Amino acid sequence: MALRTILEFPDPRLRTRAQPVTRFDAALGTLVADLLETMYGAPGIGLAATQVDVHQRVIVIDVSAEHNQPLVLINPQILAREGEASSEEGCLSVPGIFDEVKRAAKIRLRAQDRTGAPFERDYDDILAVCIQHEIDHLDGKLFVDYLSDLKRERIRKKLEKERRERVSHAAAASPGSARRAY
Ligand code: NI
Repeated sequence: MALRTILEFPDPRLRTRAQPVTRFDAALGTLVADLLETMYGAPGIGLAATQVDVHQRVIVIDVSAEHNQPLVLINPQILAREGEASSEEGCLSVPGIFDEVKRAAKIRLRAQDRTGAPFERDYDDILAVCIQHEIDHLDGKLFVDYLSDLKRERIRKKLEKERRERVSHAAAASPGSARRAY
């Protein structure tokens, strides 16, 4: 297993549309293990392969406090959406920034596990939000795209300034914070 580097907004590689996974082989197993290690290490509650510059439809999520409930979703597809919920989101690719985003409150999801076995399941609350956020990554979309142009530009400038000042990713993400990024 290895930690991978997380791309940060406005890196154009984050705009790549990921391709479906067709081979459930050892390389996929390594990618999943690396994504989990990188997500837990960040720390974050979700990570899409796109964020580590691998353009395959793979996401990992773990919203548990103990980091013992990893959810691995390959080729995830939202079959149905219900209701609306607004919550404060953060993203490991937009470190230190949190803002309200409106999404479906409940989703019906079809995906494959890391062995390729298909399943369908309903999700709500934070898992529904997180899954929608991560699928957006696979489609080259970021949560800041839901904000106003003015806000997004302000965020871009803030992150560029921080990078210039060599503020480390770890410091910007403040691990002690109750806010969680994905
Ligand atoms: Ni994210």
